[in-house]
Amino acid sequence: MTSPASALHDLVQTALVAAFGEEYADTDPVLRPSQFADFQANVALALAKRLGRPPREVADLLVEHLDVTGVCHEPEVSGPGFVNLRLDETWLGSAVDDLSRDPRLGVPTQDRLVVPIDYSAPNVAKEMHVGHLRTTVVGDALARTLEHLGHQVVRQNHVGDWGTPFGMLIEHLLDVGEDSPEAAQLRNDPNAFYQAAREAFEGDVAFADRARRRVVALQAGDPETLTLWQELVDLSKIYFNTIYSTLGVGLRDEHLAGESSYNDDLAAVCDELEAAGIATMSEGALCVFLDGYTGREGKPVPLIIRKSDGGYGYGTTDLATVRHRVRDLHAERMLYVIGAPQSLHLQMVWDTARKAGWLPPTVEVVHVQIGNVLGADRKILKTRSGAPLRLMALLEEAVAAARAVVDESRPDLDEALRAAIAPQVGIGAVKYADLSVAHDSEYVFDLDRMVALTGNTGPYLQYAAARVRSILRSAGDAVPGPVRLDEPSERALALALLGFGDVVVQVGDLLEPHRLCGYLFEVAQAFSAFYENCPVLGAPDEPTRASRLTLARVTLDVLETGLGLLGIEAPERM
Ligand code: ARG
Repeated sequence: MTSPASALHDLVQTALVAAFGEEYADTDPVLRPSQFADFQANVALALAKRLGRPPREVADLLVEHLDVTGVCHEPEVSGPGFVNLRLDETWLGSAVDDLSRDPRLGVPTQDRLVVPIDYSAPNVAKEMHVGHLRTTVVGDALARTLEHLGHQVVRQNHVGDWGTPFGMLIEHLLDVGEDSPEAAQLRNDPNAFYQAAREAFEGDVAFADRARRRVVALQAGDPETLTLWQELVDLSKIYFNTIYSTLGVGLRDEHLAGESSYNDDLAAVCDELEAAGIATMSEGALCVFLDGYTGREGKPVPLIIRKSDGGYGYGTTDLATVRHRVRDLHAERMLYVIGAPQSLHLQMVWDTARKAGWLPPTVEVVHVQIGNVLGADRKILKTRSGAPLRLMALLEEAVAAARAVVDESRPDLDEALRAAIAPQVGIGAVKYADLSVAHDSEYVFDLDRMVALTGNTGPYLQYAAARVRSILRSAGDAVPGPVRLDEPSERALALALLGFGDVVVQVGDLLEPHRLCGYLFEVAQAFSAFYENCPVLGAPDEPTRASRLTLARVTLDVLETGLGLLGIEAPERM
């Protein structure tokens, strides 16, 4: 299956060679969707410079050599030298026929790359916040999309399960008792436990003292301390897994690769860097000084890899992640789906790893930056009641809001069905809100807008899919048939559907799921316009009905598959 864009791309390139010679074989035709045609080739302007001829003349020459028989209407030159291309309806129709028979809906299978993706990464014995929600949702969508494109994704949940806070957490666990209700709360509401441990640490000198000694024991591998630590981790895993299953996110215990999993590597990381002369001692700490990282007054900013007390830090474990993912996992492309404020940290880690030879230039490494999620007051998000945020409470609110929407829009559905639809819609709404804005931009968390059935929302797309499904249900055993595009809205829908493969490839290349959201929204709108103008079951004749059924069927497949790549369910009815 070739998409319209790639078919036109090839035709224009052939014409470029015919008009200007072999050396133009790789010239980019600069093809863009356009409001004046289906696509516009914008190559004449750049070529004009190279050829020393006016752009209009270049465009005319190009068109003279452009053979679009059977694919496009007669090409037209417009403006300063744009070539307008309008696809032929018969060609488009048979392209949709091909699409309807293609189980991959035009999505290519790419050469397999090993792609570790670091995402979610909440901290043990601590509440997940909306930032964690967003990296979880974006990371999951990227994992699904890249897998669908044929890559070998290795999910790496770099949970914060090590470090100084564990001293106070373990002492607090001992104080409240391992079998206490307080400890049990870690399974669903870790905030109270964490806060209590903090308060003790800050307000009680003896406790703080015990906590510090406990950190030392933990780092020394004291067995009793390790058992207590493991208990905290296990309780937290229950909490993380509840959130993941509520979200329908594919993270499991086997994807946990937390900070602690690198413990045995940290000494070697430091030794290797020191031996290579990359790390040096400064004020008792082992540091890496890199060119180009300076703070105020030009003072060099170090990446500290071993503190003066011998402890390792966040930078050291992240160096170990690079080393492990390249050397042991054989990463060819690595993604770190992490908050935007950690960009400097990652750059320093990667530059250090490059110097050490742990990150060869053949391995692409990308920070998929996650922007902040804000409350309506543009400050840190709280729940509606004003309480500090519990992620689970937020998800419950979303489901309740979705339930209200479904109750209102579908009072005819029975109670049990509405109860089953509500979580699909509520969770879908929250995920879509995270995915539909560029991952690195901030946005305001607005539950009412997210669950609305209109606008660029998850529920709008789910509703669109459910509506197509209901049309197909009422069609009974009427058979879909070859696509004929007589009406403008049929044509527009066909063109939209044929763009699916290109968009999925783009999401994989650019790591931007919001492009798929925007695309699906266009498809849903195109379907809506089509359905308003073109009765399907009440079509004037049999072949038209069969054609429209095919368009509806492919629309449903594209919407469902697309939502699936985003990790969003499409309810049967809505
Ligand atoms: N646990 C960290 C946090 O909550 C995120 C870790 C991201 N991953 C990484 N390899 N540094 O901010």
